[in-house]
Amino acid sequence: ATKKLDHAPVMIGVAADSGCGKSTFLRRVLGALGTDVKPGHTAIGDMLTVICLDDYHINDRAGRKATGQSALDARENDFALMGAQIEALKQGKAVYKPIYNHDTGFKDPPELIEPNKVFVVEGLHPIYDTKARSQLDMSLYIDIVNKVKFAWKVKRDVAERGWTEEQVQADIQKRLPDFAAYVDPQKADADVILRYEPSDQGLPYLKVKLIQKKGGPFPMITLKKELTLTGSKSGATLKQYDMDWMGSPATVVEMDGEIDMDNMEKQVEEIEANLVGLAASPNELRDAMVKLKTSPGSQNGTGLLQAVIAMKIREVYDKLTGR
Ligand code: ADP
Ligand code: G6P
Repeated sequence: ATKKLDHAPVMIGVAADSGCGKSTFLRRVLGALGTDVKPGHTAIGDMLTVICLDDYHINDRAGRKATGQSALDARENDFALMGAQIEALKQGKAVYKPIYNHDTGFKDPPELIEPNKVFVVEGLHPIYDTKARSQLDMSLYIDIVNKVKFAWKVKRDVAERGWTEEQVQADIQKRLPDFAAYVDPQKADADVILRYEPSDQGLPYLKVKLIQKKGGPFPMITLKKELTLTGSKSGATLKQYDMDWMGSPATVVEMDGEIDMDNMEKQVEEIEANLVGLAASPNELRDAMVKLKTSPGSQNGTGLLQAVIAMKIREVYDKLTGR
């Protein structure tokens, strides 16, 4: 039976290069929001459906070999269908969405996507195409600077897939022109940007920035004061400042360094007490972090600020639906 909606669905766009932790991010968002996580399913929980935009690839893997174009290339993606279906979902209609099967490299038969209260539209191009973008209530870009991307890829592909560092570098270089042309520019138009840079102390530590555009749909979070975590072995700090983000004024909350995993509860409590505008119940951030303690990024600003974004997605939902 089709669900009855008493409001227009809330549409959230999440853009990033592939392999940049979108699935990990979404698991954290869903974990933090208390819905059930069912790996391998498109629909997760009963109020949020994730739409993966890879499903709008025009060609299968063999087809891309023939065209010589990468999956990042706009011409390899059916933006007309993507835009039309996202618009239909925003209007509370069901759609038959295509499926791109990453395991086989083929297109599977389409699946029925039922109306739902929240849609997260994630992939390479949710903000690139104006039709899709215009349906979004809020958009996020996950911005991983090349040094960090390289370090992550080396770690995975060299350790687990038997590649050399040179091969990893060559693979990144090969994708770079299309990434720069079709994916990266979206960060100028996103409402909020989650950016991973090397820490001031160098890798593998990270400095993670939540770049919040002023006056946009992302309900801003700020700090009471600059903070160095008590007892932190890496000297983790949280800072806030204003900057110009590609022509837009923005307020940044930044975390550099790591939370000590053996002292996580106390340290996240300390951070939580120092946040203004989290829109969460007391210790909710701490509990969300503890719940997903073993998930990648839990020890640094990636996990922490992702959990913050989860609270913000709920806040946007509550605002838009008048809850
Ligand atoms: P995507 O869905 O964008 O392809 P995944 O979520 O599958 O990316 O993540 C790609 C890889 O990066 C995985 O090996 C994952 O464990 C790792 N990863 C994701 N997020 C983080 C993080 N915040 N810190 C460290 N590693 C991460
Ligand atoms: C990107 C896309 C994927 C695609 C992959 C490899 O990561 O997000 O959907 O499968 O590129 O593309 P290929 O043409 O090598 O199969």
